Amino acid sequence: MSKTLLVTGAAGFIGVNFCNYWLGRYATDRIIGFDILSYAGNRHSLEQAELNDRFEFVAGDILDQTLIETLLRDQKVDDIVHFAAESHVDRSITAPDLFLETNIMGTHSLLKAARQVWLTEQADGRHRFHHVSTDEVYGTLAPQDPAFCETTAYQPNSPYSASKAASDHMVRAYHHTYGLDVTTSNCSNNYGPFHFPEKLIPLCIINILNGKALPIYGDGQQIRDWLYVEDHCRGIDLVLTNGRAGETYNIGGNNEKANIDLVNVLCKLVDEKFNNNPELKQRFPDAPAANQKTSDSLITYVSDRPGHDRRYAVDVSKAHSELGYEPKETFEKGLSKTLNWYLDNENWWRTVLDGSYREWIDEQYGS
Ligand code: NAD
Ligand code: TYD
Repeated sequence: MSKTLLVTGAAGFIGVNFCNYWLGRYATDRIIGFDILSYAGNRHSLEQAELNDRFEFVAGDILDQTLIETLLRDQKVDDIVHFAAESHVDRSITAPDLFLETNIMGTHSLLKAARQVWLTEQADGRHRFHHVSTDEVYGTLAPQDPAFCETTAYQPNSPYSASKAASDHMVRAYHHTYGLDVTTSNCSNNYGPFHFPEKLIPLCIINILNGKALPIYGDGQQIRDWLYVEDHCRGIDLVLTNGRAGETYNIGGNNEKANIDLVNVLCKLVDEKFNNNPELKQRFPDAPAANQKTSDSLITYVSDRPGHDRRYAVDVSKAHSELGYEPKETFEKGLSKTLNWYLDNENWWRTVLDGSYREWIDEQYGS
């Protein structure tokens, strides 16, 4: 049976990938893509989805409970997939207030709307609220610690992860208190197309192409579990479709890498692409590989992020055994596909960099 999904944060990195994934996979489903179009949301990224008459974009704020309720009623929304958030740890350190407002109050506003329309007015029990969260709620791991599982205690260390943790608890509370059908997925660091260039991988790709420093925080030995965004979208699909109500599922990439190792692999990959394709040297004359240098010459150690979590690793065995989830993309192929996407979509990232983000990044790292 066809469904209508309300996807919040649809114009952000994962939201865009999810809309494209879902429209491609479910030939008769409709998506209402909802987004406030903050600095991180880009309508241009939804070009492919907007070509589809089963996709409709609505600009708005998740804090606008009345608007959300109207959409749930008028558009006969079956399920909500909730991505909308302030998502960048560094921004949460310099300006935490908006994180509390969007991630906690915004999620609560959506929950209230879902309760009002789905439980009070309709009460037909067909609806699900899927909340997209992060592995960062679990805090940090020592080198020998087992990976985070769903029963690991929450110990968030940044204003971002604390706000996501609070939102996870509200989602849980709405299930236990009011009987709302909810699921939550806690995923590791995503990468892939449409990733906003303040995050490590796209930042480094673009800085290499522009011949700018690659800022490595602290000693660069912090470990993240990198998940190709399409694997994440499949994971959400499995949880939304077959996950048990009230449960949380960890979605990871089985792919732990220290930041400095990741950046070195990326540097080599860019150098190889330039060597195999001389046209790139003309397109990006400031890149080291266009000037008989290697990209790793741009690596610059900078002061560490305050409260920087040392290691994240995600145990996916629950999602695997209950739902058949496993990541399919290898890191080498995923990274190469990501790099190719940024090389093929220069217009996208130049447009994004023309926005207010440009000023912020210049303040952080110098122009
Ligand atoms: P993103 O920052 O790229 O996108 C967030 C989107 O939410 C943007 O389009 C923004 O305009 C929108 N938004 C912000 N405030 C809003 C509001 N008040 N109303 C409506 N829309 C609003 O983030 P992302 O990387 O796509 O992450 C999506 C979700 O996945 C977030 O909840 C994040 O916490 C979670 N997550 C992301 C990662 C990752 O590696 N990117 C990892 C774990 C979890
Ligand atoms: P990021 O992409 O911001 O994701 P998160 O903080 O959610 O994990 O950062 C990934 C890792 O890369 C993290 O350990 C911080 C580090 N990092 C740098 O070393 N330099 C940078 O310029 C950025 C943005 C991140």
